[in-house]
Amino acid sequence: MASPQPGAAPGAGPRRPWTGKHVLLGVTGGIAAYKAVQLARDLTRLGAEVDVVLTRSARAFVGEVSFEGVTGRPVHAEILEPGHALDHIRLARAADVVCVAPATADFMARASIGRSDDLLAAILLATRAPVLICPAMNDLMWSHAATRSNAEKLSRLGYQLVGPAEGPLAYGEGSGPGRMEEPDVIVQHVGRALEDESRFRGRRVVVTAGPTREAVDPVRFLSNRSSGRMGFALAAAAWRRGADVDLIAGPTVLAPPAGLRVHRVETAEQMKRTVQRHIADAAVLVMAAAVADFRPRDAAASKIKKDATPESIALEAVPDILKETAGDRPSGCLVVGFALETEDGEANARRKLESKGMDLIVLNKTGPESGFETETNRVVLLDREGKAEALPLLSKDEVAERILDRIERRMPFLDE
Ligand code: CTP
Repeated sequence: MASPQPGAAPGAGPRRPWTGKHVLLGVTGGIAAYKAVQLARDLTRLGAEVDVVLTRSARAFVGEVSFEGVTGRPVHAEILEPGHALDHIRLARAADVVCVAPATADFMARASIGRSDDLLAAILLATRAPVLICPAMNDLMWSHAATRSNAEKLSRLGYQLVGPAEGPLAYGEGSGPGRMEEPDVIVQHVGRALEDESRFRGRRVVVTAGPTREAVDPVRFLSNRSSGRMGFALAAAAWRRGADVDLIAGPTVLAPPAGLRVHRVETAEQMKRTVQRHIADAAVLVMAAAVADFRPRDAAASKIKKDATPESIALEAVPDILKETAGDRPSGCLVVGFALETEDGEANARRKLESKGMDLIVLNKTGPESGFETETNRVVLLDREGKAEALPLLSKDEVAERILDRIERRMPFLDE
């Protein structure tokens, strides 16, 4: 499935990857209900048909008209209304995923014991689609033993809890765990729940991203211009396809994507050791990191003063992570590398593919819209069978999806 970023790929118009999918969005009565309008809008923009069900208390916070306005569909509120007696069954069956956001403590209590005293609770019993529950409440209410026990019961029932996040709560309530996850994070979880057929499901994927840094002295370093965007996009997309993702990231300002584990590192040596720690049961290794190739042989222990400016700095090679972790990878682990070349791109990339034991290499073309520090990329995918596929200029999210499509074709399903 394509990326759930509502952005536009260059020249392609707005992308609507969830066309034909039904999301049932349940909204219960918490102050975070106002954010559910944004969530309904984002899901609709991705192409999904969004059926909103409001509980009675939700209507004290936010109105039906707002949801109708952003989804273009009628909003449902009452169970057993004349003419709508079977709505709970119809809506439950139509849903590909049910997402309750925000979910109050009271709703969680009712759902945990299987009540069906309003339309939303009844839908939870009648659906067989994946159910996401996004709690939102005061931190004291969240930490109460009754709520914790209800949350555990919901997990045991197979519902997935998304959040709560930590941060400022309602006006005057300070800060703590209890805040609803942000709509963009919930959208990512909905995307993962919608993905049913992926070969990535249940597989571990290790992705490296960003630059590495090698110290010259305590305040200076050698590095490169990599932003980490391509690797982050790959990690996020693999997670949405159901993978269990470890993202090993050099220094970058990018926010960690939803759901996956992020390990922050600085040097090539640290990146190598972190890959070794997480690779043992990986199905795929994607080396998107732009590893700084060399480091000062002797980093100065204190800041080099201007009047002691060295005429030269002796350098040595850093470990080659792909080569030096080859023995740690399980057999059958698919290896994807990157090559950023300024000349003889294909020949150089093919040489790297061979010498580093890769299954696929992504040749990055440098230019104003491609390579480091850009939102878009122009790449050629070269595989070990000698095939070359040149992709057009695409957003990095779109490139990530195309790379994962290629990887996925090389993977068997887990039960095959
Ligand atoms: N790579 C690595 N360890 C390094 C350097 C690179 O594992 N020390 C990985 C990169 O993450 C990438 C691939 O090897 O997936 C190719 O990286 P690149 O920098 O293009 O190749 P190098 O072998 O460093 O060759 P050169 O810089 O001379 O082009």
